[in-house]
Amino acid sequence: MLPQTIPTLTGRRVTLRPFRESDAPLVQSVADDPLIPLITTVPTTGSLEDALAYIDRQHERLASGAGYSFAIANAETDEMVGQIGLWLAAIKHGRASTGYWVAPQHRRRGYVSDALRTLSDWALSLDEVQRLELYVEPWNEGSWHAAEKCGFQREGLLRSWQLVGGERKDMYMYSRIRSRRQTPAANPPKPMAPNSHTHTGWHYEWVREASCSITAASSSERLHIGQ
Ligand SMILES: CC(C)(COP(=O)(O)OP(=O)(O)OC[C@H]1O[C@@H](n2cnc3c(N)ncnc32)[C@H](O)[C@@H]1OP(=O)(O)O)[C@@H](O)C(=O)NCCC(=O)NCCS
Repeated sequence: MLPQTIPTLTGRRVTLRPFRESDAPLVQSVADDPLIPLITTVPTTGSLEDALAYIDRQHERLASGAGYSFAIANAETDEMVGQIGLWLAAIKHGRASTGYWVAPQHRRRGYVSDALRTLSDWALSLDEVQRLELYVEPWNEGSWHAAEKCGFQREGLLRSWQLVGGERKDMYMYSRIRSRRQTPAANPPKPMAPNSHTHTGWHYEWVREASCSITAASSSERLHIGQ
């Protein structure tokens, strides 16, 4: 069964944790980012009231079944630096998606790479998640570079996939999946008799590959990559 509360996940540089009211100033600080408010419900007003309403919406994501919205926090200081989500719109088909953002003043310090690895490892440990997806605009090298570092594979270009800022945009589709691979058995079976269908001391085991993906998740307001 999927967790009924938002867990706290520990990475190397980041902690993924539920949002707090004290995160409002960071949310306010990204109000004029050219991309974040277009792909999320981050308010463009920069007001404290709207930032707190955004934080309330993140708490509601789990109750509504949309998914898990985490604040990305610096692991040492617990200061919020961004947001990452695990979205469940297609979970009955074994698919989930992710999306993220980091405030400009905290970029290029490896926060998203670590957040995505941490979220992906956790997500693919859940029985319900067989595949984790991510949609990234081709120009967004920082995003797809982080995804590839986390084991996501580019599967192709989705043409005119999504409205971003009133324009239809192409998206690279990335995914990370669970896979079966051969691992040595802890107690290899004895050699089998001739004509047996089992020939080796290997068995198959379900493993979680590292993978990072982002996809659009639905919200009551509009489709977003990052909520
Ligand atoms: C994309 C974004 C999430 C990257 O966050 P970040 O914390 O700066 O990423 P990282 O520091 O983990 O960097 C990941 C890799 O990409 C590289 N990178 C980061 N930004 C880059 C950029 N603008 N151009 C080229 N490479 C970049 C980093 O050098 C790093 O590679 P390295 O480890 O080989 O050095 C951040 O720029 C952002 O929030 N942008 C706006 C919202 C957004 O685009 N969200 C994703 C939508 S798909």
